[in-house]
Amino acid sequence: MALSTGHSKIRAAVFISGTGSNLKSLIKFSKTSKSPISIDFIISNNSKAKGLNYAKKYKIKKKILSFKNKNLNEKKLLTILKINNIELICLAGFMKILSKKFIKNFKGKILNIHPSLLPKYKGLNTHKRALINKEKYSGCTVHFVSSKLDSGKIILQKRVKILKNDTDVSLAKRILIEEHKLYPKAILKIFNP
Ligand code: GAR
Repeated sequence: MALSTGHSKIRAAVFISGTGSNLKSLIKFSKTSKSPISIDFIISNNSKAKGLNYAKKYKIKKKILSFKNKNLNEKKLLTILKINNIELICLAGFMKILSKKFIKNFKGKILNIHPSLLPKYKGLNTHKRALINKEKYSGCTVHFVSSKLDSGKIILQKRVKILKNDTDVSLAKRILIEEHKLYPKAILKIFNP
């Protein structure tokens, strides 16, 4: 994917809704010399998202948009992203669904991390559903965002073994550790194939 020119890093925005542990791992990665991206903006639909603290800590611009009026908020968002020359969007625990129109405006330039082995368990409560179905493995997926929920082209996946005594909480915790490694790896795969 040819997004940027010259030697400067690709300017990315990370969208969050909660804790932001994937955001943290992406910021750490972005500061390494091998990273093709820099994180220049954090967007949250939730003013109480813990992950917003990383904006202050790492001096990254942030914007909170409620997404209650989705059409209006997405228009505002597009303007903000444009003004800030954002070339790539990384969804990281962002729990709002972006409109087809918005996705079209950033076609092929939105990535997402999802806590399952897609195409299995799209949507919410992935770990609970994997346990109920007595899966042997679950995991995580980094994929391009298309207009169909959790259905865009898969970039990378990591399988995680489900243990006998796993609960959705213990499984989520082990998968999250893998998510933190998988997202940077997927970004490297896209930009330095
Ligand atoms: C992560 O497990 C991420 O894969 C998931 O939310 C968690 C966010 O954690 N995303 C989704 O479920 C998207 N549908 P984080 O805020 O600590 O990165």
